[in-house]
Amino acid sequence: MQERSDTNSSNEPDVDESRRGFLEHAATSAMAGGLVAGYGAFGCYATRYLYPADAGKSISQFVCTLDQLKIGESLPFTMPSGAKVVVARQAEGDTADAFIALSSICPHLGCKVHWEANNDRFFCPCHNGAFDAKGAPTEGPPAAANQHLTRFPLSVEDNLLMIQVPVESITVSDSEGNA
Ligand code: FES
Repeated sequence: MQERSDTNSSNEPDVDESRRGFLEHAATSAMAGGLVAGYGAFGCYATRYLYPADAGKSISQFVCTLDQLKIGESLPFTMPSGAKVVVARQAEGDTADAFIALSSICPHLGCKVHWEANNDRFFCPCHNGAFDAKGAPTEGPPAAANQHLTRFPLSVEDNLLMIQVPVESITVSDSEGNA
């Protein structure tokens, strides 16, 4: 009987010591894990901010078949970011040089511009702003401020007119097109 009691009393400090050691080890490990996770996440965000993986990259998106646009005709196109673009055919041919894609949003105060084939220009009715066939300002407030229409690259693949869409505009915008 006494022997059991001695055994218990001699074991109790060892069990406590073992539990204490385990808890200290677990707490240290948890703190180290938290620090690593915290600094790791910070490092990931900082690296992504400083070196965006998709910066400058773009993908092709279908606009129309080449024969869908005759000279002087244009069609609206909405980028995944929500940006409004007007695509116009300005010459015969089956290369991208025969077409142009420009933002249809006036850089003056944001009204919608449209292509006027008979005047060979893009026109903004809000303040009579005008742009030449390449998007350079020629009249009105945009000309006074030297504000160009933003141009988007086009390409032709198997008789299909494609527009180059920046990848970051796809990955960072929400469903309403807000960046
Ligand atoms: S908004 Fe286009 S000219 Fe003013």
